[in-house]
Amino acid sequence: MPSSEDVRAEPAAAPWWRSAVLYQVYPRSFADSDGDGVGDLRGITGRLDHLVDLGVDAVWLSPFYASPMVDFGYDITDHCAVDPVFGTLADVDALVAAAHARGLRVLVDVVPNHTSDRHPWFAESRSSRDSGRRDWYVWADPGPGGGPPNNWLSAFAASGPAWTLDGRTGQYYLHSYTAAQPDLNWQNAAVREAVHDVLRFWLERGVDGFRVDAAHRLVKDPTLADNPADVAHLRTALVPGGTRLRHIDQPGVHEVLREVRAVVGPDTLLLGEIGVADPTRWAAYYGSGDELVPLNPTFWSRPCTTDALRSAVDTTEAVLPPGGWPVYALGNHDLSRLATRCGSARARLAAVLLLTLRGTPLVYYGDELGMTDVPVPPEAARDPDGRDPARTPMQWDASPGAGFTTGRPWLPIPPTAGTVNVAAERADPGSLLNLYRALIRLRRRSPALRTGDYRPLPPTDPGLYAYWRQAGDQRILVALNATGRSRTVAPPGTSTGRLLLSTDPDRPLGECPDPLVLAADEAVVVESDR
Ligand code: NOJ
Repeated sequence: MPSSEDVRAEPAAAPWWRSAVLYQVYPRSFADSDGDGVGDLRGITGRLDHLVDLGVDAVWLSPFYASPMVDFGYDITDHCAVDPVFGTLADVDALVAAAHARGLRVLVDVVPNHTSDRHPWFAESRSSRDSGRRDWYVWADPGPGGGPPNNWLSAFAASGPAWTLDGRTGQYYLHSYTAAQPDLNWQNAAVREAVHDVLRFWLERGVDGFRVDAAHRLVKDPTLADNPADVAHLRTALVPGGTRLRHIDQPGVHEVLREVRAVVGPDTLLLGEIGVADPTRWAAYYGSGDELVPLNPTFWSRPCTTDALRSAVDTTEAVLPPGGWPVYALGNHDLSRLATRCGSARARLAAVLLLTLRGTPLVYYGDELGMTDVPVPPEAARDPDGRDPARTPMQWDASPGAGFTTGRPWLPIPPTAGTVNVAAERADPGSLLNLYRALIRLRRRSPALRTGDYRPLPPTDPGLYAYWRQAGDQRILVALNATGRSRTVAPPGTSTGRLLLSTDPDRPLGECPDPLVLAADEAVVVESDR
């Protein structure tokens, strides 16, 4: 599908997503077309022009499938049906067609690790030990004393152990998340085939790729042995040591992911959620280009300092397999908002980083506005794992429903929506939204930023992070100053070229100042003429 702007031709072999900017939409919270307070597919279609205006190339939609909404769509009762709260299959078709007509590609979430406990597959599986679908899920006898079969924990603290006893058949079933999300048994070929069919279904409907939920959890140690005592308290592999957990990141997962890749073919983007902290084990999910494109979790747990961000990037660059291309995101629906974690000044620096790195950037909806976590009082809380504050409605304008809904929004809209919104920021040349727009346009126009190599400058000063991007004869310097003071990036006589962008909207662009001095919390992009 052609892109809508002036992208210079890439080598034929480069997949489309390498030079793309991606955008994540959480469907419940983007736009509500029918006034029920919950976002829906028609709402998204009606707001696609914001994505075009922002300049992104593809949108990833978090789940909109039939679901009891215990985990807001990550608990599915039919992977090929749309939940009525979001619309219909015809609405998906209309969304995909409208996106494609605007040069936008569409990725959908696929949730292969588990289903809802109300999925017909699970109903059949739990009906008897002899059920034909018993082996579609992971069942085990109670451990000694009648407790869970082993010490594995679910990812959510509130859900406790990863096992729940099913009274009818006297066995426990495994669930990596809530008890309402039983894990499928990927050792079973019929399960693999059923999920492959789901992928085929959506590809036939015209989607351009998938975000693969919890891909690092598909295969478990078949012996169901306890986790080692020193890591048994860990719920994820996102912390050091977590990669020794026996229910996460098991070696057999790579084979099943290669099968998935074979089903979708080489050109379909498979963005894998790989929550594995160990860099080498994380990078293994690229396979030899025959598995996934793993989402990079290195930014998520680090403080918002340039030194931490730099070490995340340099670690990633060091472990990528040959031909591996990173995908970076600074936010998503499971994390505290970027502007809350970093503060508003650093959120501008983070935007420059994200959109000038070697790697495909992924923007979480609302981060382009600087939306912050919204306090949700306990009586209004909806999510089983406390993630509501980062999932509140998109702020389109200063009206009471923020342009999101004419009804009562499913999560609160904060008073700051009066100024932090698309309409207000579009009109303000110095806004974060206009910084994102400028950065994305710059990236589109610049081969060095889109696809060039990455060379960090030696660290001279804690808090200062600078790197070169180069493709052919275009050389671009990016410098981020988080030292808290003004800093000289290029001493007198060394700074030549054009200043293309600054986070300071009042700084004149054009000929690069000599010397090049950055104010506190300023980031710049310079095209060198040397
Ligand atoms: C990861 C998703 O991002 C998260 O929102 C969800 O709760 C779990 N996987 C379970 O599907």
